[in-house]
Amino acid sequence: MTNVLIVGASGAIARHVIAFLRGNDSLNTTLYLRNAARLADLDTTAMRVVEGDVTDTARLTEAMQGQDIVYANLTGDMDVMARVLVDTMDAEDVKRLIFVTSLGIYDEVPGKFGEWNRREIGAYLPPFRRAADLIEASDLDYTILRPAWLTDKDDLAYETTTRDEPFEGTEIARKAVAAYIMTLLEDPSKDIGGNIGLSKPGTDGDKPAFM
Ligand SMILES: NC(=O)c1ccc[n+]([C@@H]2O[C@H](COP(=O)([O-])OP(=O)(O)OC[C@H]3O[C@@H](n4cnc5c(N)ncnc54)[C@H](OP(=O)(O)O)[C@@H]3O)[C@@H](O)[C@H]2O)c1
Repeated sequence: MTNVLIVGASGAIARHVIAFLRGNDSLNTTLYLRNAARLADLDTTAMRVVEGDVTDTARLTEAMQGQDIVYANLTGDMDVMARVLVDTMDAEDVKRLIFVTSLGIYDEVPGKFGEWNRREIGAYLPPFRRAADLIEASDLDYTILRPAWLTDKDDLAYETTTRDEPFEGTEIARKAVAAYIMTLLEDPSKDIGGNIGLSKPGTDGDKPAFM
C-alpha cells in the first residue's frame, strides 16, 4: 500500500484526482486542506481528512508521518509554501513530491502566445519560479508540473514538454492534468526529476481559444 498526502486537497485539479482515486485499493490517501467542508460534495469515505494550513508546520508534520508521496496543489505564496513542504518532507524522510506550478515560469512559452501569457500572468509568476527553484535544489524525488491555461472541460488529453523544450499548446483541462498526476501516483518512479509542461494536443495559438 502506498501512502499519499494531497496538500491543498480542495483545489480544482486535486478534486479530480480525488475522484479518480475513489475505489483505488493500492493508494492510501490523506487529504490536507484548510476547510474540509469544501469537499462535502465528493466521496472521501475511504480517505483520511486533516484540516490545516500548509504553513502550520506542526499540523503538516503530523499529517506527513508515514507518507510515501506528497502531491501539492496550492496557490498563493508558492515559495513560502514550497519551503515548508520541502523542510517538512526532509524532517519526516518523505522523498517523493509532485508539485503543480504554471506555464511561463522559465519564460519557456514561445511566440505570440508567450508574449500574451507574459502580459496576462507574468507578474504572478515569480513566487512560482522561486518555488520550483527551491524544489529543484532539494534532494527530493520531485516532479514539477507546468500546466497550460486551465479549463473545466471533461477532457483527458494531454501532451508533455520537458524543462528545456519550448512550451507547446495554450490550454488543458484540469481533469487531464489530474489524469497525468494519477500516472505518477500509480507509478512513483515515473518522471522523477521531471519538470513537465502539460497542454492539450492541437491547442497551439496566439492565446487560449476560450479567451
Ligand atoms: N488558472 C490557470 O489557467 C492556471 C494555469 C496554470 C497553472 N495554474 C496554477 O495551477 C495550480 C493548481 O490549479 P487549481 O485550479 O487546482 O488551483 P485552485 O483551485 O486555486 O487550488 C489551490 C488550492 O490551494 C489551497 N491553498 C492555498 N493556500 C493554502 C494554504 N496556506 N494552506 C493550505 N491550502 C492552501 C486552496 O485552498 P482553500 O480551498 O483553503 O482556499 C486551494 O484549494 C494553481 O497554483 C494555479 O495558480 C493555473
